[in-house]
Amino acid sequence: MTRAGLTHAGAQQRAAELRRLIEQHNYRYYVLDDPEVPDAEYDRLMRELVAVEASYPDLISPASPTQRVSGTPLDGFAEVRHRPPMLSLGNAFSTAEVADFYRRVAQGLERETITFAAEPKLDGVAISLTYLDGRLTTAATRGDGERGEDVSANVRTIRAVPLKLRGTGWPGLLEVRGEIYMPRAGFAAFNRKALERGEKPLVNPRNGAAGSLRQLDPQITAQRPLAFFAYNTPTREQLPDNQFDTLARLRDWGLPVNPEVRRVEGLQGCLDYHAGMAARRAGLGYDIDGVVYKVDRFVEQDILGFISRAPRWALAHKFPAEEEITRLLAIDIQVGRTGALTPVARLEPVFVGGVTVTNATLHNEDEIHRKDVRAGDWVVVRRAGDVIPEVARAIHARRTLELPQFSMPRQCPECGSAVERITGEAVSRCTGGLFCPAQRKHSIRHFATRKAMDIEGLGDKLVDQLVEAGLVRTVADLYHLTQAQLAALERMGGKSAENLLQALEESKKPPLDRLLYALGIREVGEVTAHSLAAHFGTMDALQQADEETLTKVSDVGPVVASHVVAFFAQHHNRDVIQALQDAGVDWQVVEKTTGEQPLAGQTWVLTGSLSMPRIQFKNQLEALGAKVSSSVSGKTSVVLAGEAAGSKLAKARKLGVRVMTEADFLNYLQSPGVDP
Ligand code: IVH
Repeated sequence: MTRAGLTHAGAQQRAAELRRLIEQHNYRYYVLDDPEVPDAEYDRLMRELVAVEASYPDLISPASPTQRVSGTPLDGFAEVRHRPPMLSLGNAFSTAEVADFYRRVAQGLERETITFAAEPKLDGVAISLTYLDGRLTTAATRGDGERGEDVSANVRTIRAVPLKLRGTGWPGLLEVRGEIYMPRAGFAAFNRKALERGEKPLVNPRNGAAGSLRQLDPQITAQRPLAFFAYNTPTREQLPDNQFDTLARLRDWGLPVNPEVRRVEGLQGCLDYHAGMAARRAGLGYDIDGVVYKVDRFVEQDILGFISRAPRWALAHKFPAEEEITRLLAIDIQVGRTGALTPVARLEPVFVGGVTVTNATLHNEDEIHRKDVRAGDWVVVRRAGDVIPEVARAIHARRTLELPQFSMPRQCPECGSAVERITGEAVSRCTGGLFCPAQRKHSIRHFATRKAMDIEGLGDKLVDQLVEAGLVRTVADLYHLTQAQLAALERMGGKSAENLLQALEESKKPPLDRLLYALGIREVGEVTAHSLAAHFGTMDALQQADEETLTKVSDVGPVVASHVVAFFAQHHNRDVIQALQDAGVDWQVVEKTTGEQPLAGQTWVLTGSLSMPRIQFKNQLEALGAKVSSSVSGKTSVVLAGEAAGSKLAKARKLGVRVMTEADFLNYLQSPGVDP
């Protein structure tokens, strides 16, 4: 009898082949970090194996990769005894403490230079795996070190944990200890989905890993992005006589070992390793909270032994904590150049991530409400790498008093103008525009920068002074400053005052695009400013343009168009422009693009590699009146596709958009009057 087109013998052979392939792919992926096939191929093999096993259920064995998820939730976890116990590690936070440890080891071994295995200290959950005759039989948590919980059904769902050892030569009974952890990318993706579904996100990757292992239903664990690194084994039979080579052997047997593990010599070797990992920490795909030094040779480990729970031959050299607890004193509001109101946490000073932090970001109003953070709360402050410190969460259990909920002010704390929040945006903004002193300072600083009006000598500090002294309210006031006013300012000599007045004078004849950029219209950078100036030629024409007209300009989409219209709709912005003109600022009219514009109204997209810089094609197209856009849509007129064009070309074909090669286009340029 045959099922699914296979005899029993054929099915047995195919199942063995599929298992071998799947295990090989797992090994390439989790141990070598060098996947050979795309996920889709892996999934296909898996589906085929499921089908073969469904036809001949007697072929199913517990070590089959299809058997990672068992069907039934448990009532609880059985107890597992650890022999020898699972130890913990002594900690050091400073070089001096590491030096003490080193001295003790050197004394104990009566040698000067000691060799260590140095490893990242993963921030996850310790696990013990037992392999009997090369098959995973038990996985247990550390528990109190003596007794842990049998979480085999959960751990079997983690693909990085081999159900069967590879190769040959492993001892009949092998116990491997290591860390289950949640990679950062998996953590972020999991939380994104949880928030989308309105579920509670995981607090951090470590809690994520611990919580996932504690699930009674392995189906839930199977959905969690967990991974594993082996770091230890109490087994000595058929293994090398030192830690470093032992890890390499475990790796040969298909157990993932952290690729950052090194053999180092002496105290300096340890400290160098620590510094190197600290520098690379932020770029790793997983959280580590320090490094571990282990005396490499097992005989030396045995000579040193252990005190109470921790071995004398190993030490965890921790990094400064990235999370600390402190008091949130107040939530202040800062106003940025564009009027964005940002909530800032004022904190009781706390040492975190290697620096003392007194301010941290709270991101925005929604985040504050989602995390329910209130002034007066105890909060967890996080500073990872060079990232800006943030309030990660509030510790609600420590809230003893009723605290008022945070609410965004309705009036700008700097100028009292109304605050608005556009639907769909996370940010609230002050509507005061250039009347708001905070925005005024930012906008004047921007006005003076090199790419804007390039006013030498008008630095940030001086702008603050000028605004605070009431000498400058808008950028136009800069041009009415007098020698006497300037010289009266702190830290300003007569010569500097003179130089500044000279620089202001010299800035009075900007090309229109520079002035547009200098005005600080939202989303209008140098390139957009140039496009606008080239298209409209004069400030008047630009001021009169509506959104529809604006979107005809290259680089201008509906968002930029709406910002431009909103800027000129504010009468005080128009007043500032008038005042600039009255003060003698005389912007240069930009030659409006003229001539034949046979491509007017068309939108072109450039893709693939072209024989000349893209900007040259863009300029040519724009000179002919076309608008150049970066994405293909139904509105695209032509896609100009160079060599090796990819997704944009594919999309154009799918949408039936006309595609031209570079040769077609160059041909067309010969006789541009004719329809391309
Ligand atoms: S060795 C006797 N190596 O740190 C040695 N532990 O406080 C015992 N950990 O619970 C552990 N990375 O979960 C060792 N490379 C590493 C480690 C590591 C993380 C954890 C482990 C243990 C804790 C020790």
